[in-house]
Amino acid sequence: MIGLLKLQETISINSHKAVIVANTADAETLFNEKIMFERFEKLAKAGEKLISIQNGAYNLYIIISSDKKEANQSLEYYRTNGCDLLNLLNKDKIEEIEITSNVIADAELLAFAEGILLANYSFDKYKKEKSKHSFKTLKVVSTSIQKSELKALKNVVESVFIVRNLVNEPVVFLTAEQFSKEMEKLGKDAGFEVDVLGKSKIKSLKMGGLLAINAGSPNHPTFNILTYKPKHHTNKQPLVLVGKGVVYDTGGLSLKETANSMDIMKCDMAGGAAVLGAIYAIAKNNLPYYVVGLIPATENRPDGNAITPGDVITMHDGSTVEILNTDAEGRVILGDALSYAKQYNPALVIDVATLTGSAIMTLGKYGSVMHSTASEEIKAVVKSSGDKVYERLVELPLWDEYAKEIESDIADIKNIGGGTAGATTAAKFLQHFTDYPWIHLDIAGPAYIKGVDSYRGKNATGMGVRLLYQFVNECLLSEHDL
Ligand code: BES
Ligand code: MN
Ligand code: ZN
Repeated sequence: MIGLLKLQETISINSHKAVIVANTADAETLFNEKIMFERFEKLAKAGEKLISIQNGAYNLYIIISSDKKEANQSLEYYRTNGCDLLNLLNKDKIEEIEITSNVIADAELLAFAEGILLANYSFDKYKKEKSKHSFKTLKVVSTSIQKSELKALKNVVESVFIVRNLVNEPVVFLTAEQFSKEMEKLGKDAGFEVDVLGKSKIKSLKMGGLLAINAGSPNHPTFNILTYKPKHHTNKQPLVLVGKGVVYDTGGLSLKETANSMDIMKCDMAGGAAVLGAIYAIAKNNLPYYVVGLIPATENRPDGNAITPGDVITMHDGSTVEILNTDAEGRVILGDALSYAKQYNPALVIDVATLTGSAIMTLGKYGSVMHSTASEEIKAVVKSSGDKVYERLVELPLWDEYAKEIESDIADIKNIGGGTAGATTAAKFLQHFTDYPWIHLDIAGPAYIKGVDSYRGKNATGMGVRLLYQFVNECLLSEHDL
């Protein structure tokens, strides 16, 4: 669906084209006839930002450049305009378009291309009638953009689509073991190692959290270790990415009771998929960076064997947890993974999870909640990466007081807080299993959305891939070793 992405130095005469201009007058030379220009001018004066005119043998799409003051806002302007253009192209049944501009920065033209590509997605594996997107080839006309930049962009968009596909897959297909198979396929394709630990290995590693959450499921859990360690990596200690891989969350015996809240719970492995997708993009683009992914995967279901509220379990690190709500399962499997991460002596661990309804209540679909024990410097890099790719993060505190809320009468900690500040008490639970610089991203809001949101589409968005990929790039560019 991503189609072809090509670079060329000059614009072709009779091809369909989209041109970004600084103002209305700038566009005059693009028109074959004055009357066409006048038609365009009228629409531009009425405030339209994307104007489509038939200009002789081809369609001309004109976009007025961004007047946003902030650079990141401008990038987003071009992405969303790219999406609007893509929708027009598919409506006009156009297969090929050339995009160009004399007035915007390369990064902006690339963002425009990114928006076009990211918007051209639909999940129709289970439909007899496949979507009829006509768009096939995007030609970027520029003398300064490099071929390698386009190749990198294509790989990132493909990674986002892989993640969207996985998150959109229902659990009838995407069990934990199937999820692992997909990881193995992708590892072979991009060149990273994938170790899939099955149930007996998980038992011998004493991952009591993952086993407890899996206890009510007919399907086995997996613990997945993705290793990308290229020969010439610039970082000594790895960046470890941890992703929640709950392939379906019924809530377990604390069954989800809010009407329809279970309908979308196939999305609960979106964090794990984002980690997989980010490593896939990093490996595809041969970034010289040592990255490890840890993805605990299971369903969360009620059954005779299911873990019950009131049970006490022993986690991978030996701490005991009183389970008071089996629907707070993500933190339990992540606790084991965060503890497992210690052996890597990581420079930084970032976990990504659709963890709480509280994060959705806080930011809706527009951002992810971040909690962190990393340095201000690292946090700033992560946040600015998020701003650049528009996968924005808002940090909440990890004050000591919140730890009191997860104190248990019978075990070291319990798996729920007092009912308020749910995203933070969940983060406090996770923090218990860390002893390294750590960032926790609760992506429950933006990972899976109801209505169409521009180039993010609807349902699975692929949230996290572009953020993590950008972050690794920023680390490579900056002087400091994490
Ligand atoms: N997977 C859910 C969080 C979620 C909700 C993700 C909606 C995406 C959309 C998580 O496992 C959960 O059930 N969290 C509970 C925790 C509570 C029982 C302490 C929540 O936030 O309500
Ligand atoms: Mn849950
Ligand atoms: Zn969950």
